Amino acid sequence: MKKVHNFNAGPCILPDQAIEKSIEALKDFAGTGMAVIEVSHRSKEWGEVMDECRSLWRELLNIPDTHEILFLGGGASLQFLYVAMNFLEKKAAYLETGVWAKKALKEAKGLGDAYALASSADKTYSYIPKGYVIPEDVDYFHITTNNTIYGTEIRYDMDSPVPLIADMSSDIMSRPVDVGKYALIYGGAQKNVGPAGVAFAIVRKDALGKVSRYIPTMLDYRTHIDGGSMFNTPPVFSIFVMNETLKWLKGIGGVEAINRINVRKAEILYNEIDRNPLFVGTAAKEDRSIMNVCFVMAPGYEALQDEFMAYAKERGMVGIKGHRSVGGFRASIYNACPVESVEALVTCMQEFAAQKA
Ligand SMILES: Cc1ncc(COP(=O)(O)O)c(C=O)c1O
Repeated sequence: MKKVHNFNAGPCILPDQAIEKSIEALKDFAGTGMAVIEVSHRSKEWGEVMDECRSLWRELLNIPDTHEILFLGGGASLQFLYVAMNFLEKKAAYLETGVWAKKALKEAKGLGDAYALASSADKTYSYIPKGYVIPEDVDYFHITTNNTIYGTEIRYDMDSPVPLIADMSSDIMSRPVDVGKYALIYGGAQKNVGPAGVAFAIVRKDALGKVSRYIPTMLDYRTHIDGGSMFNTPPVFSIFVMNETLKWLKGIGGVEAINRINVRKAEILYNEIDRNPLFVGTAAKEDRSIMNVCFVMAPGYEALQDEFMAYAKERGMVGIKGHRSVGGFRASIYNACPVESVEALVTCMQEFAAQKA
C-alpha cells in the first residue's frame, strides 16, 4: 500500500495496530468462525468487547463511578439534541467558538431559552472568548473544547457553578481530563478514538432526571445506561475498532504519554509556521490547538497557495486543505498521526520556501 502522510480532519488516521486487528476480526472474530460484523450483539464474545471497551475508557480517562460511558449512534450532531433533551429545563448558556458550537446551540434553542454567553464570531472564531462569567441561573454551560475547523482549543478543565457540558469530539483522549468536573462529555469517535459510526457520552448519572419534558426513549441517556449501550443494536464494527484504538493508546502509555507526544508534534509544526516567511498561523497563539493546526500563506505570498498544495500532495501529504468555510491549510495531527508525518510536512514547507522566498 502506498504510504501517505495523513492529516485528514476526521475520519482520519487510526493506529496501524487497530486497523490490522480489525482486519483479522473481519476474517475470524474471537475464534467464532464468523466476522465480527456477523455475530450476535447478544453473544458472549461481543459482550466481552463491550466490557473491555468500557473499562478501557474508565482506565484511560480515570472516569469516576459517578459517571457512565455510553456508545451511541447518530454522531456528535445527534448529541447536540441529546444535551438539550436531557439537561435543558429553562435556560442554557453556550460558548460560541465555532460552527459546531453554533450547531449545538441551535438544537437547544428549539427546546428552551439557550443563548451564546460569549462568541468569537467577530474574528472568524480564531480565538477563545475570555472574561465572561458563567451565570448561575442556567441549567448548564456548554463548551466545545477543540474547534476542529479553526484550530483553537480549551486545554484545561474549567470550574463552573452550573453543570458543565463539553463537546470533545476532536480532542478526547489527547490529554488527561478531570472528568469529575463535567456533567457530560460527548463527541463523535472519528478523530482520536475510532472510526465514524459511533459517538461517546460520559454522563454523570445524578445530573439526569431533572427535566420535566417527555424524553423520547432513544434520546434519553437513562435508556442507554439501563441497556448498557445495547438498548438497540449498537454499531458493532465501529465499537470494535474503537476498542482496538484504545488498546493501542494504553499500550503506548495512555493519555499522559500521548499528551507529551501531541504537544511535541504541535510545537514542531507551529515553530515552522512562525519561522517560515511564507506561512502564518490563523489561531490566536494562546489558544492554539494541539490537534488541528491552521495556517495560510503569509501576506504577499497568497498567490502560491495552490502551488504549495500541489507541491505537498506530490510529497505524500494528504488532507491539508483548510475547511471550506475558512480556506488555507489545516493539518490535523491527532493521536495516531506519527511525529514523522509532522516532520515530513515541515520539510516540505522548508523546501518550498527555499525555492520561493
Ligand atoms: C467539534 C466537533 N463537534 C461535532 C462534530 C460533528 O460530528 P458528527 O459528524 O459525528 O456529527 C464535529 C465534526 O467534525 C466536530 O469536529
